[in-house]
Amino acid sequence: MLFEQYQYDVFRFPQPQYLGAKYPFLDWIAKFIPNGIERAIDGFAGSQSVAFLFKKYGIEVLTNDFLFFNHQIGLALIENGRETLDKADIDLLLCENPAAGTQMQELFAGVFFEEREARFLDSFRANVEQLGSIYKKALAFAIMNRSLTRKVIMGHFAHNKALAYAANHERVKRNPSIARPIANIFKSLVPEYNRAVFDNGKHNRSFNANILDLLPTIDHADLIYLDPPYTDSHADYQAFYHLPETFTRAWRDKTFINSTKRYTPPLWSGFDKKTEVIDSFTKLFESAVHIPHWLISFNDRSYPSVETLSRLIARYKDVQIEAKPYVSSRGGKGSIAGSHEVLFVCKNKPKFALNFQR
Ligand SMILES: C[S@@+](CC[C@H](N)C(=O)[O-])C[C@H]1O[C@@H](n2cnc3c(N)ncnc32)[C@H](O)[C@@H]1O
Repeated sequence: MLFEQYQYDVFRFPQPQYLGAKYPFLDWIAKFIPNGIERAIDGFAGSQSVAFLFKKYGIEVLTNDFLFFNHQIGLALIENGRETLDKADIDLLLCENPAAGTQMQELFAGVFFEEREARFLDSFRANVEQLGSIYKKALAFAIMNRSLTRKVIMGHFAHNKALAYAANHERVKRNPSIARPIANIFKSLVPEYNRAVFDNGKHNRSFNANILDLLPTIDHADLIYLDPPYTDSHADYQAFYHLPETFTRAWRDKTFINSTKRYTPPLWSGFDKKTEVIDSFTKLFESAVHIPHWLISFNDRSYPSVETLSRLIARYKDVQIEAKPYVSSRGGKGSIAGSHEVLFVCKNKPKFALNFQR
């Protein structure tokens, strides 16, 4: 173990509940991080679990996700090296704010939450703005959004079973958090998130952009990690996580549709539709050509096939394919028992020097 890894090994990433999170695979992915990496990009960071792994390795991390609520986790746990939530912050966040808006009540009362809980969320949302720094705000959002995935059955928002299940005794026995007040869940999570804040001595940054726009603006990095949505299997993250995104952004310019009240129009990804994904990968790889090491997470039930994607990568890099079977179907995003988590481990092609003899 390198000194940097050892130094930060005590810091624990708060267990996420996010479709496709690589939290269960971190030890496996860590084996393929080459020595000597000083600056790494996590382009589709989601819960930020891999960005956090890089941070623990003492690497300078540039992390990114196009969803704003995931960017808040990046600000809170990757960019932030010092600020935590103290008792005064928590009291402020949980108090009733008579000047709060009503978006959560209007959209989600009677859908995901009881009226009282939706009112509490509006109040909390208004109180976040009173916190003194962007990192405290980001921690408040990160912890509240995690609380919401514990409160709502299945941990996502693409269904409308939340209230029925929270009233079902058998369901509550199996999963008590669906009947707990959101404020209690929030308070119980704060210490774990506070303990995950640390400084690795590097100027880490969290971005909130489409990776296709961001990557051309980054002048150098030694490694890029890419964990795109797996097209054809749970690829539409905005359908599953529209609620934390709406809560965090407090959208003003969207329409809210269907029984889950998801927002529309959605942000454009480029990686969630079969018709676009090959073109998007091609653009992504063109912009990443100057980065010597690429690690790409994939799944053998996704589109395009592993063979097609490896042929595409091989235009730019030498590629080695690693695979690990799923033992259960927990974790979503194609993680069906019998399928494999795949990691493309890519490096520069060797340069041959021609040695002409006189
Ligand atoms: C498979 S998840 C990443 C999971 C992550 N590695 C983790 O451990 O939690 C894919 C992520 O890509 C994001 N995403 C989708 N299209 C994107 C784009 N064009 N640019 C940046 N992020 C994007 C989604 O919001 C989602 O969080």
